[in-house]
Amino acid sequence: MQSIVILISGSGSNMQAIVRASIAEQWGDLYNAHITAVISNSTNAKGLAWAHSQGIATQVVDHQAFATRGLFDAALQAAIDTHKPQLVVLAGFMRILGADFVAHYAGRMINIHPSLLPAFTGLHTHQRAIDAGCRFAGATVHRVTPVLDEGEILAQAVVPVLNDDNEHTLAARVLTQEHLIYPAAIRTLLQQQLPRSK
Ligand code: GRF
Repeated sequence: MQSIVILISGSGSNMQAIVRASIAEQWGDLYNAHITAVISNSTNAKGLAWAHSQGIATQVVDHQAFATRGLFDAALQAAIDTHKPQLVVLAGFMRILGADFVAHYAGRMINIHPSLLPAFTGLHTHQRAIDAGCRFAGATVHRVTPVLDEGEILAQAVVPVLNDDNEHTLAARVLTQEHLIYPAAIRTLLQQQLPRSK
């Protein structure tokens, strides 16, 4: 069985898109791939209740309960590794992870970032794209390396920036594309890299 663990911090709409795709596209039958857990650093993450309603194991590792990032990373790693994942998917996971944590999941951890990387790493990507006068914006799925928002680009989507856009309208347009490219990128990884059961 190929285990996928998804990490979220908020609404989890990308996580929902991935879970829906895994059901609609029968990742279990085709690739013996299963989303085994959704883990959040916040008890307030709305996506947790939805994941639970889908019969997926959920867990909170509250970053506020740990004195250092290293201690949080270690607890998160222990929670993730319970599920022996082949793939760790960061889906709106808003904590920066330490080098040891990233190294532990080298080659098997991916992220989605709401910009056309390598432009606009970090936060406030949509406002920065508008401020820079960009005519196009988008999102990127990439492998996670110790450098923030770096790593091999696996998929991108492009949307126009409209004259009357604000960061919220642009973010909503980008998010609709995130929901398409993230499941597609994972499906490609399952097809290319993870052993098939049949
Ligand atoms: C997405 O825009 C993602 O790219 C960014 O945070 C947002 C998370 O949205 N990292 P959701 O929690 O998946 O709804």
